[in-house]
Amino acid sequence: MILEIKDLHVSLEDKEIIKGLNLKINEGEVHVIMGPNGSGKSTLAKSIMGHPHVHITSGDILVDGKSIRELKTDERAKLGLFLQFQNPVEVEGVGFINFLHAAKQSMGDESSTKDFMKGIKDNISNLKMGENFIGRSLNQGFSGGEKKKAEILQMAVLKPKMSILDEPDSGLDIDAIKVVSENVNKFLEGDKARSLLIITHYSRILSFIKPDFVHVMVNGKVVAEGKEELIEKLEREGYDSYLKE
Ligand SMILES: Nc1ncnc2c1ncn2[C@@H]1O[C@H](COP(=O)(O)OP(=O)(O)OP(=O)(O)O)[C@@H](O)[C@H]1O
Ligand SMILES: [Mg+2]
Repeated sequence: MILEIKDLHVSLEDKEIIKGLNLKINEGEVHVIMGPNGSGKSTLAKSIMGHPHVHITSGDILVDGKSIRELKTDERAKLGLFLQFQNPVEVEGVGFINFLHAAKQSMGDESSTKDFMKGIKDNISNLKMGENFIGRSLNQGFSGGEKKKAEILQMAVLKPKMSILDEPDSGLDIDAIKVVSENVNKFLEGDKARSLLIITHYSRILSFIKPDFVHVMVNGKVVAEGKEELIEKLEREGYDSYLKE
């Protein structure tokens, strides 16, 4: 899948948050977006997924050359787009495993619950999530780190072509960052066409998951682009020089 964002302008309740953003992610590429709090990173992720609060005022989002502006979220998911939320919601009364199975079925999977369970057991143990998730409601009472792992499990199960991870490392303990990174890397290795966009504030996860391209987002725009060396520069100098411009 090729994801292309062209001169995108997005408003939230009449306030312009994204102000002419361009980005292109080719098949098999790993991209990172870093940037100060409030610069619009999560809004961008939600725009790609078609979140109902997001209002695109101009510009376009293309998947393999076709606009997805008019598509609903589930239609975008069927194309192979996936978003891990920065703050996953708790859903009472919806069993975690049932939810995963239903999501997989909506993508055309026909396996029985029993076979599905067998399949995800490995994923659950690779993520070191422990068996106690199996009987619980989606995200209900999950700790911050457990919610993040649950979303990585979703990615592993749904096998999207383009995954957007919004701060997959926030709230993860030192070991969990490694576990999550290993699982993300294994997922990417499973099919070389899979692409990834990671939004993060910290370089640590990027020492495990190697990005091909790094973008700096400030005030609704991409203000700098580069490769890994840009991460070190940001760690050293922060965002000051970009904020003054
Ligand atoms: N419903 C809304 N109405 C108006 N402004 C909003 C609304 N929701 C979010 N915003 C504002 O949009 C801006 C961008 O928010 P966003 O969550 O995209 O930032 P972010 O770059 O992901 O920040 P962080 O790094 O803290 O996660 C913020 O200033 C936020 O307060
Ligand atoms: Mg955010």
